[in-house]
Amino acid sequence: MINKTIKINFKIGTLNDLNSEEKMLVEKAQSSINSAYAPYSGFLVGASVLLDNGELICGSNQENVAFPSGLCAERVAIFSAGSSYPNQNIKTIAVSARSKSFDIDDFISPCGACRQAMSEYEEKQKKDIKIILHSPNDKILIADRVSDLLPFVFVSNDLKRF
Ligand code: THU
Repeated sequence: MINKTIKINFKIGTLNDLNSEEKMLVEKAQSSINSAYAPYSGFLVGASVLLDNGELICGSNQENVAFPSGLCAERVAIFSAGSSYPNQNIKTIAVSARSKSFDIDDFISPCGACRQAMSEYEEKQKKDIKIILHSPNDKILIADRVSDLLPFVFVSNDLKRF
């Protein structure tokens, strides 16, 4: 057996390290939290998506009494962007969260299914998507591409028989 290592890149900082466009995107993710429908978890998540044409699309988590029928904020936002602007590239995605029952003091990380969904768009547009994760105390994590958040991603080539 051979030991191998994968290197991923990300940056840690605060809200003040962001440029005005990124700050605005984080604010939109934060305000989207108010539209979350999360009566079962009490965990409210907002996501905002900036497209290359400057359009901004937001989403929040939408839960369901049949738990798997709900959807995370990130997928609500990117699917909405993909269906409203199918030919526009996604430039940046910002995510923020709040809990009804405890203080969140670190950024929350998108679940595996959301990373897979983001990766699909990165592959489709052949251009990196920046991810900004925001915590309520204004800590920030930035990944410059989805592939940094999802090593060993399942890609369309894996479906092809050669
Ligand atoms: N959730 C998101 O919307 N995004 C994430 O990145 C993690 C989790 C939602 C799903 C569910 O409604 C609630 O948070 C608790 O898991």
